[in-house]
Amino acid sequence: MSVSVVAPHSKRPAEEDKVFAANGRAQEAIKKYGADQVINSTIGALLEDDGSLSVMQTAMQELKNLPDAEIAAYAPIAGLPDFLEAAKTAVFRDFRPDAYIRAVSTPGGTGGLRHAVWNYMEPGDTMLVPDWFWGPYKTISAEHGRKMTTFSLFDGKKAFNMASFKAKIQELAEKQERVLVILNTPAHNPTGYSLTDEEWNEVLTFLTNVVEHQNKKIIVYVDIAYIDFAGDMKTSRGFMKQFEGLPANLLVLIGYSMSKAFTFYGLRSGALLCVSSSEEVAEEFAASAAFSSRGVWSNGTRGAQKVLANVYNNAELLEKVEDERSKFVDLMFDRARAFVDEASDVGLEIFPYRAGFFITIPCENPAKVAEELEKENLFLLALSNGLRFAACAVSKEKCILSARLIKQVIDKVNG
Ligand SMILES: Cc1ncc(COP(=O)(O)O)c(C=O)c1O
Repeated sequence: MSVSVVAPHSKRPAEEDKVFAANGRAQEAIKKYGADQVINSTIGALLEDDGSLSVMQTAMQELKNLPDAEIAAYAPIAGLPDFLEAAKTAVFRDFRPDAYIRAVSTPGGTGGLRHAVWNYMEPGDTMLVPDWFWGPYKTISAEHGRKMTTFSLFDGKKAFNMASFKAKIQELAEKQERVLVILNTPAHNPTGYSLTDEEWNEVLTFLTNVVEHQNKKIIVYVDIAYIDFAGDMKTSRGFMKQFEGLPANLLVLIGYSMSKAFTFYGLRSGALLCVSSSEEVAEEFAASAAFSSRGVWSNGTRGAQKVLANVYNNAELLEKVEDERSKFVDLMFDRARAFVDEASDVGLEIFPYRAGFFITIPCENPAKVAEELEKENLFLLALSNGLRFAACAVSKEKCILSARLIKQVIDKVNG
């Protein structure tokens, strides 16, 4: 006889995480056939060519050199003040908008998403994300009793689908007082797409028009988890200047994460920032976020916060971090470029890749294609309408091989 004790809203199916499951199968294959014979493109972390984790030594040494108490003690609920300043610098660099900006520490980018979903939506409200999205967005919205809908990220020409974006915003604005929309740019997971400055301009002009004429509140959540892998400062952050002078009821939230930028995946540190033309809205953000933090995870990881603060308060250390990171970025680009070029040579359709850890191949029957690829010892993530190839986890040679193999298997499965 089955027994259930959990409260109804928390009754969830016991599901294995798809990425970890595929990675598990890849590890099995590695044991059986050897690492050379297996392409494990499942994990969303930068790996060395031999499959070991790339770790930023400068950041790791800085962490290990901290006095014990600087790691062991509690941080203030909202975050160490020097960390919060450093987070603002890390996010904006030379493109800080002239606006009221507040920051609170969060356990990685995930924590920022949680606060946005809870504090800027009412129970039952629907948030908007592109149809190609990072799976946990849906989990986070469901966990907090919110719903999620999608707009088409690309149109028929594989350009940003402005018409779909506008139509969905309009639809939600007619039903709800507030609309939260998540844009994971630059270096979108899973496609590697980045909105151009012109697209940002059109997005913000449209949203300004909606909030002004329909008296609604729109919250644009910019998920910048991969920003430090998204090209030079202007390319990766130039659009942020456009966050100046927006109406008070058009709020920009920015989710910053140390996971990729400092290879601090497991240290759980990041920050949620708000950018507003209204001091009142910015103060309100800080108060509600700090309250939420106290009620969910209390304080953040002090050691990681201290590392960010130290890096941005020491020009020499910052230079060292950036030198080391630029090697990671070059490695990443080199692999992705190899995949993209090979895909073009063999006629494999992919979405426009600008930067970041992943490349997406739209295709029919993705689960079947992934299954067939596994028989060839290529492991990747099957999405609803395509495949996610994690170039971050695979050597350049394997990237080239993968593009060819994926094309062959798609042709075989889909005829
Ligand atoms: C799109 C996206 N947003 C946010 C995150 C946040 O990650 P974390 O909570 O580890 O900082 C990730 C991590 O994979 C991501 O892919």
